[in-house]
Amino acid sequence: SLKTKVASIPLETCVYNASGPRTGSAQALSRISASKAGAVLAKSATLASQTGNPLPRTWHHDAEESHASMNSEGLPNLGIEYYIKTETIDEAISDTGKPYFVSISGKNTDDNMKMLDMIYEKIKTGEARIAGVELNLACPNIIGKPIIAYDFEQMDSVLKSICAMPMFTEAKIPLGVKMPPYFDGPHYDRAAAVLNKYSDVVKYVASINTIGNCLAIDTVAEMPAIRSKGGFAGLSGRAVKYTALANVKKMRELLVDDIDVVGVGGVYTGEDAFEMILCGASAVQVGTCHWNEGPKCFDRICKELEDLMAKKGYSSIEDFKGKLKEW
Ligand code: DHB
Repeated sequence: SLKTKVASIPLETCVYNASGPRTGSAQALSRISASKAGAVLAKSATLASQTGNPLPRTWHHDAEESHASMNSEGLPNLGIEYYIKTETIDEAISDTGKPYFVSISGKNTDDNMKMLDMIYEKIKTGEARIAGVELNLACPNIIGKPIIAYDFEQMDSVLKSICAMPMFTEAKIPLGVKMPPYFDGPHYDRAAAVLNKYSDVVKYVASINTIGNCLAIDTVAEMPAIRSKGGFAGLSGRAVKYTALANVKKMRELLVDDIDVVGVGGVYTGEDAFEMILCGASAVQVGTCHWNEGPKCFDRICKELEDLMAKKGYSSIEDFKGKLKEW
């Protein structure tokens, strides 16, 4: 079985979607819940709807194989109210009983807190079936806004404000944090130390978001492939798997046990998911492959992971989770 728990929430399978591609509308989300995906996670929302950065804002190298993609979408989304209203959630998860997560990526902490107040109101009144909230501290594509989780003091102050809100302290709604990739030992230590301070509230960490500020060139045009930010954009796809695995492994090592790690970045096959779980992931999210292949990728990846587990004689992910051997 591919059953798992993320933030103590039971998931029927340990594979689901990353926030981002094909997550912006109830219709797109409903196709995820109709697949083998174990949960449904909506597009990062801002307080008000917005259209995002100018086109072209996406680029793919070998979309068929999800080799590498770049995006600088600039958070196009329908606004928080859309992602938390009953009609949206009813269409998104229907009667599947799958956990529905909202992602928030406000322009500032005040906006994030306003969105959280709106979410809590819906939960309190029983209007909205929302299992948890993923706070995006890692978007590289907002013009003029650095990646929050690369500034440890800012990250600490954002989490301090947010984690003190009654929806977390009193109602114990689980909070997840979407993290950017780190590339150096001391950065992992600093990030994990901040997250561990808030382990009463932060119940999972999703590593990694895109590798920010990469550059793809169109050699015919002799121009960047993407328009905004001088072409600087977030890299995703199979090219980032090795960075993601290192981040999952390190985060699992450094975070306290009550924070789960969700592995995301370059997952394309069941074997990729297996590697993430060996490194300590409780579940994996799929972004670029879902973008290119559509929601049938969840059925395929689940099947591939089940087959690999059967071949190895594993009956549950607990049999190998975090059990990467040492030399
Ligand atoms: C966008 C990209 C991200 O990596 C992210 O975390 C949020 C938004 C975007 O460009 O829309």
